[in-house]
Amino acid sequence: MKFFIDTANLAQIQEAHDLGILDGVTTNPSLMAKEGIKGEAAILQHYKDICEIVGEGDVSAEVLSTDFASIIEEGKKLAAIDSNIVVKVPMIKDGVKAIKWFTDNNIRTNCTLVFSAGQAILAAKAGATYVSPFIGRIDDSSWDGVELIAQIAQIYSIQGFKTEILAASIRNALHIVKCAEAGADVCTCPLDSILGLLKHPLTDIGLAKFLEDAKKM
Ligand code: G3P
Repeated sequence: MKFFIDTANLAQIQEAHDLGILDGVTTNPSLMAKEGIKGEAAILQHYKDICEIVGEGDVSAEVLSTDFASIIEEGKKLAAIDSNIVVKVPMIKDGVKAIKWFTDNNIRTNCTLVFSAGQAILAAKAGATYVSPFIGRIDDSSWDGVELIAQIAQIYSIQGFKTEILAASIRNALHIVKCAEAGADVCTCPLDSILGLLKHPLTDIGLAKFLEDAKKM
């Protein structure tokens, strides 16, 4: 399973990259706004900065348009920033149409705001590189987000769809473990959730004892 970080914060991206386990970055308009990125030039520059930190990894950059022609125009501009850019497109009618266009024109896509298996099938049919089910937001609405990952994984395997399942809206370390178990190809996580995987009280207790005993060596 690949690890992406779900943020537009350059310091956090650098920290995850320095860990040596980072495969890419996902952003969205909310995450970009949180970093105070405003205006087309600043947005394009910020994606460039992210690509530079990540090196080989994929960087999802989301379109802000919702009609076919504008999604295409915007997506082409984003894809031109760097070969690692993946154009993030919402799961709407014009979005599906645009994903098919991008697929036919060798531009990679991430279909976002996916909350059902039906939407995931449509994204795969259109040739999306990644499909992003928002598991935390599904949990918030009293459904089981991880169950959706497992369902999509089963459907894609039976049908031979090549689209990679990118579990998004991850809220904690257990989500990451459960998504790995359910067959996600990628988890995109806040830095805290990635670092949460490190934690176990028995590791801390065990290390303290080893260091204490090491003094007797
Ligand atoms: O990038 C999309 C997704 O990961 C958003 O997460 O926490 O806002 O539901 P969240």
